[in-house]
Amino acid sequence: MSTTPSVQPRTAFAPVARVHRVAKRYGTGDAAVHALRGVDLSIGRGEFVAIMGPSGSGKSTLMHLLAGLDTPTAGEVWLGEREIGSLDDTALTLLRRERIGFVFQAFNLVPTLDVIGNVLLPFELRGAKPDREERAAIGALLEELGLADRLGHRPRELSGGQQQRVAIARALASRPQLIVADEPTGNLDSRTGREVLALLAAAASGHGQAIAMVTHDPVAASYADRVVFLADGRLVAEEGRMDAARIARFMLELEVAA
Ligand SMILES: Nc1ncnc2c1ncn2[C@@H]1O[C@H](COP(=O)(O)OP(=O)(O)OP(=O)(O)O)[C@@H](O)[C@H]1O
Ligand SMILES: [Mg+2]
Repeated sequence: MSTTPSVQPRTAFAPVARVHRVAKRYGTGDAAVHALRGVDLSIGRGEFVAIMGPSGSGKSTLMHLLAGLDTPTAGEVWLGEREIGSLDDTALTLLRRERIGFVFQAFNLVPTLDVIGNVLLPFELRGAKPDREERAAIGALLEELGLADRLGHRPRELSGGQQQRVAIARALASRPQLIVADEPTGNLDSRTGREVLALLAAAASGHGQAIAMVTHDPVAASYADRVVFLADGRLVAEEGRMDAARIARFMLELEVAA
């Protein structure tokens, strides 16, 4: 078998996002918390990856690093061909706006903007306007998420589940290369949750978007192409598509071991 020639153009194979031996320590001395202890993970175009693990295992920390919202204590974070440690704040902000959609636990909606204003914000920030095709896709997305009759409402006039769906619509609307989602179905009933998961799966398979999704729910993780398990800041297992029952058994074993 021949070895891979090192002259291959790296960018042709560059994953959408990659962390290389990342560690993250919060605080110092006796108070130090080692949230991540050397994690490698790479997410390719069109790949839907679920990240699971016990509470406190480092999942949200990993999502913040992948999204370029925080920096590692050690190791590297790559977005496409760029190592983000080499970027200044402005360059990183621009790269994030251009490439990443976020759904975080706090939703981060702009309180003074209504639903449609929040969903179109990524376009606004880029100084772009959705074209006819994009407007039609956003209309369909809002319809599917059950938000079509709430477009003029502010976040505080919405339920938690509705706010979560607005955050999901915003992350999907501009079809960023990477979507980073922390418990995106956490506040949703099971039918709405399944709709959101189907939308994420379609974003990956239909539009080639890369998706990193943290979830505690084995059913949610069963929609992913790959399931990654974290425990105590380490990646302890990584599997291809798994059914929910098997994921649940895996999780149980991890929690027993922890
Ligand atoms: N800003 C912070 N300052 C100090 N410690 C932190 C901070 N953020 C997280 N930690 C600690 O880092 C560890 C990992 O936290 P993280 O939020 O990544 O866990 P998680 O896997 O997302 O958990 P959960 O499932 O409960 O959301 C925890 O021990 C947590 O207390
Ligand atoms: Mg978390």
